[in-house]
Amino acid sequence: MTQSTTNTPSFPPPQDEGSVTISYKGTTATLPVLSGTNGSSVIDIRNLQKDMGLFTFDPGLGTTASCESKITFIDGDKGVLLYRGYPITQLAEQSTFPEVAYLLLYGNLPTRHEYNEFVTRLEEKSLLHEQIRNFFNGFRRDAHPMAILCGTVAGLSGFYPEGTDTSNETSRDISAIHLIAKLPTLAAWAYKYSRGEPFVYPRADYSYSENFLNMLFARPDTPYKINPIYSRALDRILILHADHEQNASTSTVRLTGSTGAHPFACIAAGIASLWGPAHGGANEAVLKMLHSIGRKENIPDFIAKVKDKNSDVRLMGFGHRVYKNFDPRAKIMKKTCDEVLQELGIENDPLLELAVELEKYALEDEYFVQRKLYPNVDFYSGIIFKAMGIPESMFTALFAVARTVGWVSQWKEAFNDPLRRIYRPRQLYTGPEERDLKSSKQW
Ligand code: ACO
Repeated sequence: MTQSTTNTPSFPPPQDEGSVTISYKGTTATLPVLSGTNGSSVIDIRNLQKDMGLFTFDPGLGTTASCESKITFIDGDKGVLLYRGYPITQLAEQSTFPEVAYLLLYGNLPTRHEYNEFVTRLEEKSLLHEQIRNFFNGFRRDAHPMAILCGTVAGLSGFYPEGTDTSNETSRDISAIHLIAKLPTLAAWAYKYSRGEPFVYPRADYSYSENFLNMLFARPDTPYKINPIYSRALDRILILHADHEQNASTSTVRLTGSTGAHPFACIAAGIASLWGPAHGGANEAVLKMLHSIGRKENIPDFIAKVKDKNSDVRLMGFGHRVYKNFDPRAKIMKKTCDEVLQELGIENDPLLELAVELEKYALEDEYFVQRKLYPNVDFYSGIIFKAMGIPESMFTALFAVARTVGWVSQWKEAFNDPLRRIYRPRQLYTGPEERDLKSSKQW
């Protein structure tokens, strides 16, 4: 069965909200202002270059809406995150990851029948082509799992021809399912490879999160006993990381997809972007930071270094381009962290205690207050993963598994956008003017 997107709800186009007029060197242009369902209105500058010969300058694209989207909404000042209109707190408490994946992909919550069909499709596609095992042997055993994920996901492009035709909606949907289904298998195998343990195959009798845990931890000599606290916590973490509108990795996927590149190659590009410590790599960096601080007594010295403009030390897991208030995901993450540690009988985890103390210290410090720097989703996720026995090098790979859902949803949405065109930003050039090579030669 192939899921079509015919049940995707339709919404009115952006509303005309008036215009702004700008004048420059005797020329005047009137630029329309458009409003969406929620959030700031936007100035439509598409004709600015044609009418006035001007580009806009926005390093880091902090004030640029790069596309129209109906998937995720963030109000950074209020700390609100909605997937298809549903608050993240409700989804984290009352949904499963496959249900959220369906919602992000198709726009509606599934009926029970649709849900069962969707889960079956994911199960069927979770197995990897047997030759893909060979990819792993090309890596050193100590290769970072994100390096392995980048390589193997891009390598999938050479398999599964049924998803290759990006001009066809059914084909795009097949690719999306392949990716959501296969990422846990690839990520778990990257871990197994690093340990020199045999790969564990996906099982249809487990849920998405149970299956992932089993592939990570089962061994031929010791079958893995699923701990429902772990699988529920993992499911919740996957939900929290599933999408986050036009962040760096999602924009990378959209940009790569705008060229018509193969879907697996687009997601490999997203994984590369996610890897950086300013983005998905922050969860691993938080744990490294906590280890380096070591003890509560060292917090003031560490914070002094963070505040020193001559040092490049940052408080990892703090700050966000969009949230200038608590990241709503961080609150759920902290609660999940408490639950996992309590259920496991870890009442006094030294790392958690250090994290709590560090958070408290930073939230009371003028530097962080003034700049509206709050804990983000990564501040607590690492501690949960660590308690579950997941090694630090795997943290960002788990994030990639979750975010694949957002990436493919956004990648698919772009194809149905009537304004779709190749991403091609401009620049403010400040290099040398044209000069003559011969007269410039030094010898
Ligand atoms: N520690 C110390 N200072 C910080 C931090 C931080 N974590 N984050 C921002 N600042 C300071 C900056 O130095 C700057 O100060 P200034 O005005 O005196 O120059 C001010 O706050 C604004 O910071 P920007 O760098 O302009 O913020 P930007 O939006 O570009 O960066 C980012 C956002 C990358 C997330 C940043 O806050 C950061 O590096 N955080 C730590 C890494 C992290 O946790 N990343 C995960 C993000 S969430 C995610 O991807 C899942």
